[in-house]
Amino acid sequence: MTDKPQIKTVDEFHHQPEEYQTAVKKIVRSHAINELFGAQVFDEPAIALAPNPYAKWLTCRVAMEEYGHHVRFKELGEQIGIPEEEMIPGRTAKRPLSVFEFKLNTWEEFCVNKLIGDLAEILQVEDLLHCTFQPLRNLSRQIMPEERFHAQFGEDFCSDLVKTDEGKKAVQDALTRFYPVMMSFFGASGSKNNEIYRKWGIKLRKNEEMRADYAARAKALCEGKLGLKLPEVALDKPKPAHA
Ligand SMILES: [Fe+2]
Ligand SMILES: [Fe+2]
Repeated sequence: MTDKPQIKTVDEFHHQPEEYQTAVKKIVRSHAINELFGAQVFDEPAIALAPNPYAKWLTCRVAMEEYGHHVRFKELGEQIGIPEEEMIPGRTAKRPLSVFEFKLNTWEEFCVNKLIGDLAEILQVEDLLHCTFQPLRNLSRQIMPEERFHAQFGEDFCSDLVKTDEGKKAVQDALTRFYPVMMSFFGASGSKNNEIYRKWGIKLRKNEEMRADYAARAKALCEGKLGLKLPEVALDKPKPAHA
């Protein structure tokens, strides 16, 4: 918990200093854009890649929930005064995160995407569970069980895939290509935006702290549990994220 003043309602939000409002809007806008873009380029196309009815059923659920996350962030965004077009990829100059430039062609790539992509999302949402803007904190509480389900989905399907040599090779190959891309997900080290988020108790941790924690958790999961190998990555100089 934080000792910073708590902003309980949207009405109170509108009476906060400009810097606070701008900072919260940046986070809500980014989530609205990226939840939608991720659903469009990863989760919905993955339904066609899923190998059997059971996998398709669960993938539909994941896609439905990711679209739902966009809807909820967009609703909150509208309440706090973000124009709708700023929350729709393609209608705004804001680009989605660079992780979504990863071209998804196979089922194994999607499973790895959920395994380590949604682990990164869990870390981001965990940080917002303590946010001083309570409507954003409440929204994070609502979506957290679903993000955990997505990461578990990735772990479960990857655990099955690595049981065969061919499956393990495909999962390892996807991990080797996708993990380095994830490093930019947490934003630049020494970020000015992040400094403002922490000043107002909107976020708790520095980008570089979250990235280091992510790397440790990804290692325990991928190497410790699944017997895979993470590629070497630089933790201090990530490529800049787009949104
Ligand atoms: Fe999500
Ligand atoms: Fe997710």
